[in-house]
Amino acid sequence: MSNDLLLETEDLVKVFGTFRALDGLNLQVHAGEMVGLVGPDGAGKTTTMRLLCGVLEPTSGHIRVAGFDVPRQVERAREHIGYLAQRFALYGDLTINENLEFFGKVFGIPDAERKARSQELLNFAGLQKFANRRAIALSGGMQKKLGLATALVHRPDVLLLDEPTGGVDPVARQEFWHLLVGLLRGGSAVLVSTPYMDEAMRFNRVIFMNKGRVLTEGTPRELMSRLDGRILELAAEPQMAAHPIAAADPDVQDVHAFGDRLHLRVREAAGPLARLPGAVAAAGLHLTHLHPVAPTLEDVFMYLLEQ
Ligand SMILES: Nc1ncnc2c1ncn2[C@@H]1O[C@H](COP(=O)(O)OP(=O)(O)OP(=O)(O)O)[C@@H](O)[C@H]1O
Ligand SMILES: [Mg+2]
Repeated sequence: MSNDLLLETEDLVKVFGTFRALDGLNLQVHAGEMVGLVGPDGAGKTTTMRLLCGVLEPTSGHIRVAGFDVPRQVERAREHIGYLAQRFALYGDLTINENLEFFGKVFGIPDAERKARSQELLNFAGLQKFANRRAIALSGGMQKKLGLATALVHRPDVLLLDEPTGGVDPVARQEFWHLLVGLLRGGSAVLVSTPYMDEAMRFNRVIFMNKGRVLTEGTPRELMSRLDGRILELAAEPQMAAHPIAAADPDVQDVHAFGDRLHLRVREAAGPLARLPGAVAAAGLHLTHLHPVAPTLEDVFMYLLEQ
């Protein structure tokens, strides 16, 4: 194992009763790398996170965190892990400052260091101005930042963040990603789960999951290149009526609504580009445009789901 490999699993499996919630995950996250577990509800993201920090016992397979075996050396491993659970708990009646103090005590930070560490984390999270506000009175985005700060109290170098931007407004999401970039520069290994395809663009590597299985993994660029030249964007009025017309073309494999456009996945582009304007006009619709576009990660995910 190279020494900057901070997080590693091998054929990791979790079965609940007879249900395989996680079916053979092989994962490697190096220092300075942010890897995304991307998939819909029930994909196995939380199960993975809970296995990695030793809250769940694997059915089979291996986990190493900062070189320590989980669950055998889980206490040593946990010294390296900062875990932000999907539904994490803050103490609503305590202020931001008091929450940081509290988690500092839980993690055994000595009295002499604790104040300075809290201050450092307040600065990091941009929460200084609100230090005396009770956690219950914080916005969703501020709560997530405080949650992240409490997970960092013991200076972990492996971060497990389970849907950290769920229910957070776009501005706060942006700020949250900025905080993570800072941690990566410091050499942390970060594993983040998200159901949002647009967020997957931010990761160094993406692991697409569905129903406990890994569909594929790669850099966002690699994944998108798999559909190069095979996505057409079509806009027509009314859009609903254009959907079945596009789907009927022999070289169109799939049609998805993408905002006010349709994305067509095609076997090859030339045929549909030649035929569809006529077909749309023949149905009495108005074609606004039809042209090839760069694939998005959502296109790739949809494609993989059907394979
Ligand atoms: N303790 C448990 N007992 C039985 N089944 C479980 C348990 N925990 C999770 N599961 C099942 O395992 C599957 C994966 O759940 P998991 O929570 O890992 O999904 P997820 O990807 O985190 O989804 P979400 O995006 O909704 O958080 C689900 O079908 C879930 O119902
Ligand atoms: Mg989950």
